[in-house]
Amino acid sequence: MKLSPIRPWIILGTRPEAIKLAPLFMTMRNMDRFAPVLVSTGQHQSMVRDVLKAFDLTPDIDLAVMQPGQTLSLLTRNIIDALDPLIAEHKPDWLVVQGDTTTTFVTSLIGFYNHIPVAHVEAGLRTGDLMRPWPEEANRRLTSIVARRHYPPTDLARDNLLREGIDPKNIVMTGNTVIDALLSVSKRLDADPSAQAQLLARFPFLDPARRMILVTGHRRESFGEGFRNICTALAEIAERDDVQIVYPVHLNPNVQGIVHETLGGKTNVHLIAPVDYEAFIYLMKHSYFILTDSGGVQEEAPSLRRPVLVMRDTSERMEAVNAGLARLVSTSVQTIVAGAYMLLDNPAAYAKMQSDISPFGDGRACNRIAEDLLL
Ligand code: UD1
Ligand code: UDP
Repeated sequence: MKLSPIRPWIILGTRPEAIKLAPLFMTMRNMDRFAPVLVSTGQHQSMVRDVLKAFDLTPDIDLAVMQPGQTLSLLTRNIIDALDPLIAEHKPDWLVVQGDTTTTFVTSLIGFYNHIPVAHVEAGLRTGDLMRPWPEEANRRLTSIVARRHYPPTDLARDNLLREGIDPKNIVMTGNTVIDALLSVSKRLDADPSAQAQLLARFPFLDPARRMILVTGHRRESFGEGFRNICTALAEIAERDDVQIVYPVHLNPNVQGIVHETLGGKTNVHLIAPVDYEAFIYLMKHSYFILTDSGGVQEEAPSLRRPVLVMRDTSERMEAVNAGLARLVSTSVQTIVAGAYMLLDNPAAYAKMQSDISPFGDGRACNRIAEDLLL
């Protein structure tokens, strides 16, 4: 007798969720036992579309909730209004969520209210400080409370869940699905000289004689003084004539405003629009090092042997810091500039921040999650 397929809804809203759930959706789609549905809340519009392109995916359902400059409360209300009736009507077998965004938490809450089990990918990341990252630390903890299955990417994350009293029977350590995504797209890019040539032509301003520093930044808790400091530090680093900075600027208006005001028109600083995932991987591969406050980039960079300076005081991804592959440089001008100069001027320190082994996964996380959901 043929079993009817399991119907998980894979729900994403933002760029990192799209990158980290796309390979899981594709894994399930290739298994007879699953009939997965890809749903975007549309918390992000163009940035989700840009990353799904790398996987040749479009959502089966797009709730298109994004509004420019949305507040967290408005976003929460819009996701509940759009998603709850659909979940109540279709009753999927699972809601699969990822990480720590408003989409993640609100979907989990809707699942809980509708008695639909929630599977949480990238569970257990914690700083222990509810305000940093804000609001993500709360989103993660709240999701853990209502989720049925928990997929921590690392031992540290699993231990956090155990400490909070989650039943070990419901926890499976999987590695981070971002490594699955990165390795698959990176391998394809390496094997395709014409895609590489097209990417080279997309960034004609890149000067092979200067070392490239790739920058991303978007954290809400850094809005205001933190972002002003980040921009001042970048301007100071860009005064060196042996570097060039490439900064794909996040579309949040709170980021766009300050970054363009402070760094627009500066020599050696290239402010560009967010790029699709394949292009971002190309830029990471061509960077000398990466300055970022992004969670996903902290996880990806070690797999590409790129040192990362994290422009935050804390991280919930201490695995890379503990392994010496990333350093926390805070959001002060002095520490960011000092960290960058250290990497630029001290080859031995640079070499120490490179490794062949990623602390975040082996590229097989999606298989482990899919297998677990079959049990
Ligand atoms: C969100 C997540 C954050 C995640 C980040 C990844 C929450 C609370 N925050 O932050 O955890 O690290 O995404 O990037 O869930 N915008 C566009 N087009 C887009 C995307 C965003 O114009 O494709 C603009 C809109 O004006 C939007 C604003 O950015 O209102 C903010 O988006 P939002 O998702 O609320 O917050 P992020 O700061 O992006
Ligand atoms: N990324 C991308 N294009 C860009 C910048 C980043 O595809 O222009 C990817 C990057 O490789 C990483 C993810 O976006 O996988 C990180 O997303 P973001 O920084 O928005 O969110 P976070 O990881 O901090 O939640």
